[in-house]
Amino acid sequence: MLKVITLLADIMADSNHLSANVNVVICFQEYGGRVHRFLQEYGLLETAWKPKSIGKSLALPFNEQINKKDIEKALHLAFDFEIQIDCIELEKSETSNNPHARLNRVIIAWLSNRRILENERDKYLSDLPKKWQLLGDFVVLPETAFTSDSWSSLFGQIASADLLAFWQEVSHALGGVRLARQHPIAKDTHRTSQTELLLGENGWVEFLDHGIQFGFDATKVMFSSGNVTERRRIGMIDMKGEVVVDAYAGVGYYTLHMALRSKAKHIHACEINSDSISGLSWAQEANGLEDSITIHPGDNQETLPKLYGIADRCHLGLLPTSEAVWKHSIHCLKPKGGWLHIHMNVHKNNLEEWTSKTLEMLKKYAKSHGRDWQIKAAHLERVKWFSPHVWHVVLDVECKEHI
Ligand SMILES: C[S@@+](CC[C@H](N)C(=O)[O-])C[C@H]1O[C@@H](n2cnc3c(N)ncnc32)[C@H](O)[C@@H]1O
Repeated sequence: MLKVITLLADIMADSNHLSANVNVVICFQEYGGRVHRFLQEYGLLETAWKPKSIGKSLALPFNEQINKKDIEKALHLAFDFEIQIDCIELEKSETSNNPHARLNRVIIAWLSNRRILENERDKYLSDLPKKWQLLGDFVVLPETAFTSDSWSSLFGQIASADLLAFWQEVSHALGGVRLARQHPIAKDTHRTSQTELLLGENGWVEFLDHGIQFGFDATKVMFSSGNVTERRRIGMIDMKGEVVVDAYAGVGYYTLHMALRSKAKHIHACEINSDSISGLSWAQEANGLEDSITIHPGDNQETLPKLYGIADRCHLGLLPTSEAVWKHSIHCLKPKGGWLHIHMNVHKNNLEEWTSKTLEMLKKYAKSHGRDWQIKAAHLERVKWFSPHVWHVVLDVECKEHI
């Protein structure tokens, strides 16, 4: 049986030290190649530190940007042999060329070119971004990156051409060509992305996720890279022959996985935001899905009623809650029933209560719709921490006729 142990410990990887405590995946040597390939394929492998043999086992370092729970889940889904997540001391690779190290080097060189003395550099170096998103050649920095008082006052003293050159250095160090800084995702219905373009002409991005082509304007719509395990999980459900309704399709975050990996027969993708629809239409064509996805533009309060009685499965992917479409989704299912995947933010102490209340509501909606269904929670997936104490969960609900 797969045994996954997670020992919590902070990464203390400092690019100036020759060894450090680093997060690792530990497996038997014989599986090392498979795990190494997996980490490499998903961009999770950390190349700044050397893998280490421990008896019959091998420790492979993984990227410090990756949440330990996420990697644990992804490995759990991918492999059925024993894997352990730990934090152990590793030696630095001879040629440390990971993006963190590159960024550090580039910034040190840039500061010394500007004649900033070594003893003054710490206030800049201590404030370098530790996380970012790389969407194709487009780097999205977190909203706090390079905004400290020290950086702001330094930028105030340099010409705009020099600033552009600086952003070029940063984006190249992080593996991109264009650069933007994230503003908070708007709390409006459309989940608009508010991104400040620092370098580049536009924010149109194209990239592969699990072999699926995605495309959209990253300055206009959001893409949550953090839900990687949920995209993987949904794509592993067998949906052959099924008609699926995706009530909040966005740029196809789940729609494309259900069409290509789960092999759903047809997906009705409801989406209100025209920028997301542009991305979804692009991806539909790029992935050759013209015949298997129908896009329904507009408010799903109006589009879902046109899809009543046709679905084997409804995907309800809106946070903090998708409650506004629970009743519609019950109506969308075929008379024999089907599946619902309900996304929700729920306090960690409230998971059981929320699950049973949700089932009660769904039973009420089904009954008033004349459906005599057995409705049960098949699985509650904890996708990730949305905030301290609050889980982003997905409840898989099965609705079926009484036998
Ligand atoms: C969490 S986001 C998108 C997640 C999506 N799975 C993706 O591609 O990232 C939710 C999506 O629902 C859409 N949306 C929100 N309210 C809607 C409504 N009433 N009708 C249709 N779409 C809606 C938003 O425009 C947004 O694209």
